[in-house]
Amino acid sequence: MNLLIKNGRLLDPATGQDGLFDLLCAKGKIAQVAPKGKIKSEGATVIDATGCVLTPGFIDMHTHLREPGFEHKETIETGTQSAAAGGFTSIVCMANTNPVNDNAVITEFIVRKAKEKGIVNVFPIGAISRGLEGKSLADIGQMTEAGIVGISDDGHTVMNSALMRKALQYAKGFNLLVVSHAEDENLSGHGSINEGLVATELGLPGSPNAAEEIIVARDILLAELTGAKLHIAHLSTRVGLELVAAAKKRGVTVTCEVTPHHFTLTDEAVRGYNTQAKMRPPLRSEEDRLALCRGLKDGIIDVIATDHAPHASFEKEVEFTEAANGIVGLETALSLGLRLVQAKVISLARLIELLSCNPARILGLKEKGRIAVGADADLTLFDPEKKRKLEPRMLHSKSHNTPFNDWELTGTIQYTIVGGNVVYQP
Ligand code: DOR
Repeated sequence: MNLLIKNGRLLDPATGQDGLFDLLCAKGKIAQVAPKGKIKSEGATVIDATGCVLTPGFIDMHTHLREPGFEHKETIETGTQSAAAGGFTSIVCMANTNPVNDNAVITEFIVRKAKEKGIVNVFPIGAISRGLEGKSLADIGQMTEAGIVGISDDGHTVMNSALMRKALQYAKGFNLLVVSHAEDENLSGHGSINEGLVATELGLPGSPNAAEEIIVARDILLAELTGAKLHIAHLSTRVGLELVAAAKKRGVTVTCEVTPHHFTLTDEAVRGYNTQAKMRPPLRSEEDRLALCRGLKDGIIDVIATDHAPHASFEKEVEFTEAANGIVGLETALSLGLRLVQAKVISLARLIELLSCNPARILGLKEKGRIAVGADADLTLFDPEKKRKLEPRMLHSKSHNTPFNDWELTGTIQYTIVGGNVVYQP
């Protein structure tokens, strides 16, 4: 069935379109784009997008789907439902499952399960090291054949620089992206919060910014040495950002992402031993947060990625030092990004670039992240003004671990469309 989306503001930074255009989807692709009222399509299902913004579908470069192994937190089915509810039409899922996605059998399982149960596109990331143990390389070649788009030990750092160098060399051969979880694990130790005043006042062990920056610097140097494509996950410090900026200037093939929680919150959110604000890397200082906002504005930061990290309440509602790291993020990303637009930190076009166009480019997804005839009909339609007060029951994820409960959020997803099919509608 053809789908006609009319009367909306079509915004696509990849092609430079911004205006009142109608769009027709046919056979899973974008079939026609024309000024409002110009497309006549008999028999098409019509979506009236008045007052809404139509953009290329959002692509999350950093999701934890938890399947196989941690299905009590999330499954491929519930994780993709959460993605669709957040406007994401494609997600990249991390390898820290159980068993770890370090071989083709697990990659094939994820790809197959995503086809059967997933409602958005799922692109797996394979592990760098076997079992995420940092000792020997995972089956990178076989996982590539099975469909991975990159490699990462996310959740852990490959602390052995020689192994990381080898991983980058392999990745280059396979044209794979290497995603770095940058944390010197010896230096961060048991730190479960940013090292600073709040940690001291709460009597909690802190992790210093330098733990992150040392590995950002190392991995940049290794990318420079090998010529591989490096992507820094969840960057959270000012100096880390400066290291990326300097590397880009030198021509190193490095990109980076920040999460909505790192550009929205600081370690102040942890006061009261709030485990919902516990994550790795930890929430940092206001100085760091402001630097991230500048990076989003000036283009040094390439991507907003959620680091959607679902955990069950029994894993979060425990003593702070014992609580699991991470928050669910797919269903709050747009609204938190729109706060930056409202505060005039970035434009709406820049937000869409960060949520869709740039991830598509970095991942090499040529038919996604843009609105053009012949491209995949993966689209997000949202009302930029509509407000909601966030309550756990609104979330489609199996887990509800978020520090944004009770926040009044602006911007709601009205339709998420994958391959020309509506996969979400509130
Ligand atoms: O907060 C986090 N949670 N950071 C990570 O790097 C891993 C993630 C998880 O898997 O829960």
